[in-house]
Amino acid sequence: MTLPVVLISEEEIQTRVLELAEQISADYSDSDDLVLVGVLKGSFIFLADIARRLTIPRTIEFIAVSSYGNGSRSTGAVRLLMDVRGNIEGKHVLIVEDIVDTGHTLKYLIGILESHRPTSVKTCALVRKAERAEVEVNVDYLGFDIGDEWVVGYGLDYAERNRTLPYIGVISPDD
Ligand code: PRP
Repeated sequence: MTLPVVLISEEEIQTRVLELAEQISADYSDSDDLVLVGVLKGSFIFLADIARRLTIPRTIEFIAVSSYGNGSRSTGAVRLLMDVRGNIEGKHVLIVEDIVDTGHTLKYLIGILESHRPTSVKTCALVRKAERAEVEVNVDYLGFDIGDEWVVGYGLDYAERNRTLPYIGVISPDD
């Protein structure tokens, strides 16, 4: 397998993560009940970095869904595998995703989390493939818009490989 080609460097990611964390910290400065909900598995590195750079009180939850039907492309069908463990009623919720592709997963997650009656639900994603959007879903805090390429690293995988690369790289799935 050939090495992924760097699309977004480690330095660019870390700079953007800090900017997002500063913006989130400012926007929620009056809140002492922000809950970051990481979407397994892909968000685990982004969540860890952004959570540690916030300067406001925050707690961490995880949620797990299954969205890719055939291992490479989203089918649009989303299934809840694991809901949040803690009580988020009356709290501010920020969903943390690694990637928004068709948008089905994020839209589904907003619905699931809203059913727990939080005070608010907002969204944060490291990358978005705008041209792949199939449903309209708002990303309140976005790292980068990217093209329709297969990206790996910084949490993103291809068949579970390359999640721990410090940068985001492009591969050809046939490699
Ligand atoms: C990815 C990503 C999002 C979803 C986005 O997860 O983390 O949850 O796909 O796709 P969509 O916008 O087309 O719905 P994936 O199913 O690859 O699982 P993983 O995070 O465990 O790798």
